[in-house]
Amino acid sequence: MKNIAVFASGNGSNFQAIIDAVQDGSLTASINLLVCDKPNAYAVERAKAAGIEYFAFTAKDFSDKQAYETEILAKLAEYKIDLVVLAGYMRLIGPTLLSAYEGRIINIHPSLLPAFPGKDAMGQALRAKVKVSGVTVHYVDAGMDSGPIIAQETVDLTENETIETLQEKIHRVEHQLYPAVIQMLVSKSREEVKNG
Ligand code: GRF
Repeated sequence: MKNIAVFASGNGSNFQAIIDAVQDGSLTASINLLVCDKPNAYAVERAKAAGIEYFAFTAKDFSDKQAYETEILAKLAEYKIDLVVLAGYMRLIGPTLLSAYEGRIINIHPSLLPAFPGKDAMGQALRAKVKVSGVTVHYVDAGMDSGPIIAQETVDLTENETIETLQEKIHRVEHQLYPAVIQMLVSKSREEVKNG
């Protein structure tokens, strides 16, 4: 059984979908840790409710990214984490974590990358008046939403789409797609994943 850590900064609805998938048996992994850079985030409440250990920190309490990532890395070792799952974690991953976990960190992004990377992806899609957007799951590298793509799913936009209606559609897709991709990754060896 593979051990995963979820990193989140906010509401954590994707974290919840992963918890639910483990509980209903469709995801055969163990969520050993939540890492959260906002101690008051609702994601922390979800961890408590599910009995999942969490490491909540405030970046300001550390001298720099290297300092807090060193602390995170120690937690990942302590909890024997195989796969890091970013789910609304609003920080770029730095060299400290990347050098230890590159190829084993994934992210979910609410657009069809490489379109609309970075913040406010759904707002960017609306302003561009695209007819189709979607969700991307990708490996994390040093760039912003730039690592190799693992899976994508489309979402159609209507004439009068709003940020609220789009967010609802995107979340519905994310909550199915992310647990399914994680299951695919934890049930394949790294070699099989690399070879597709
Ligand atoms: C998701 O839309 C995800 O694509 C993006 O951040 C959002 C997190 O939402 N990276 P939640 O905290 O999982 O509800």
